[in-house]
Formats: sequence, C-alpha cells, structure tokens
Amino acid sequence: MSERFYEPAKGHGLPHNPFKAIVAPRPIGWISTRSASGAINLAPYSFFNAVADNPPVVMFSSTGRKDSVTFAEETGEFVCNYVGEAQRDAMHQSSFAYPRGVSEFSDAGLEEAQCRIVKPPRVAGAPAALECAVTVIMPVKDRGGADTDNWLVFGEVVGVHLSEAALTDGYFDLAKAKPVARLGYLDYGSGFTITAIARPNGPRKA
Ligand SMILES: Cc1cc2nc3c(=O)[nH]c(=O)nc-3n(C[C@H](O)[C@H](O)[C@H](O)COP(=O)(O)O)c2cc1C
Repeated sequence: MSERFYEPAKGHGLPHNPFKAIVAPRPIGWISTRSASGAINLAPYSFFNAVADNPPVVMFSSTGRKDSVTFAEETGEFVCNYVGEAQRDAMHQSSFAYPRGVSEFSDAGLEEAQCRIVKPPRVAGAPAALECAVTVIMPVKDRGGADTDNWLVFGEVVGVHLSEAALTDGYFDLAKAKPVARLGYLDYGSGFTITAIARPNGPRKA
C-alpha cells in the first residue's frame, strides 16, 4: 500500500501541516486566570487534557509564554471552563490576542461567575468548570533535553462545577453538554455517537 512518510524537522511536504489533524479530536480547555494585580484573562487551549484522576489533574500547553501561563504562575490558580456548542463562538472570539488587561469575558459577551475555591472567574452558563491549583509549570523539552518555548501548566482540580442542565440521572450527559472538539486546520467537531461497551471479562487472551 502506498503511503507518505515525513520527518517533522525536515518538513511535511503537504500544503498544510497535518500534525494537529492527526492528533484529533482534542478537548478544549478554556482557561480563565487572574493576575497578581487582578487582571482577568480567558483563552482556549487545545493542547489540553486530563492526565490523572486520583487526584484529578489537568494540563494545558502554551506555545510561547502566553498570559494564561504568566497569570497561572503569578497566582497559582486557573479554571478550565467547558466548551459546549453554545459557547463555541465566544470561545473562538476569546482566542483573539487582546492587549493585557483587556478582559476577554466582556469582549466575547460572556458573564463571569464566581468560583468557590480559586479567585479567577469562570464562564457563567458553561456546562462545567474545573477549579485548579497549579502543581507544576515546566517547559517542554526536545529530544536533546533542551528547553523549548512551549510551557506545560499542570493543575490539581480542587473544585468541580456541573450545570444541572447537563446531568441525566446523575450522569454528566455529553448529549446535553455537547462538547466542541478541536480538529486540524480551521476545523472543529461536535456531535458524535456514544456507545457504552462493558469491560472485558473471562480468560485473558494470549
Ligand atoms: C480552539 C483553539 C485552541 C487553541 N489552543 C492553543 C494551545 O493549545 N496552545 C496555545 O499556545 N495556543 C492555543 N490557541 C491560541 C490561544 O488561544 C491564543 O494565542 C490566545 O490569544 C492566548 O491567550 P493568552 O495570551 O491570553 O493566554 C488556541 C486557539 C483556539 C481558537
């Protein structure tokens, strides 16, 4: 079967870099932070995921040291807001590179809701929000062990908000929360088929 192969350091040879389309769909961490002087920031990060569940820990990665990293470092806190279909356009607007001090909340027409444990506000009306305490901030290394200008911010989830509207019989219902995922290029995904599969049991296969 014919295939293509490329080494990223030497170029992909395609009209557009396929890397992010290959590692897709990715959840979007919509990160709100507060600086030491009280400035509020909100921006989406699709280099985002949960990395542990006991304790629950999430991580986002910033290409360059953006305000979200600086603010999270200054105060040791961030909030990861959930992006449902209803939040998609405001999330996208909030990725605009505003000057520091301009709150993306107001420009994207969003209402702030107070958190319980951390100081940054969360996005009112979002299906969920994770209040996080920063555990580690570190640069991504390259294969030679050198620091790159990509910054990993890990945070332990210390509080979880769930919208009642996203719950069904005590389950967080993705059919109601309608998550928006980041794909490659300019693409986003939403609406997918959910299939419950029982855990495998019986004799272990060789
Ligand atoms: C859906 C989406 C996902 C994004 N993911 C990332 C990401 O993972 N890392 C990153 O550095 N920038 C990402 N960006 C760009 C940032 O949101 C953008 O640079 C923003 O202005 C950063 O804001 P800040 O400097 O206030 O933190 C993303 C943008 C969009 C629209």
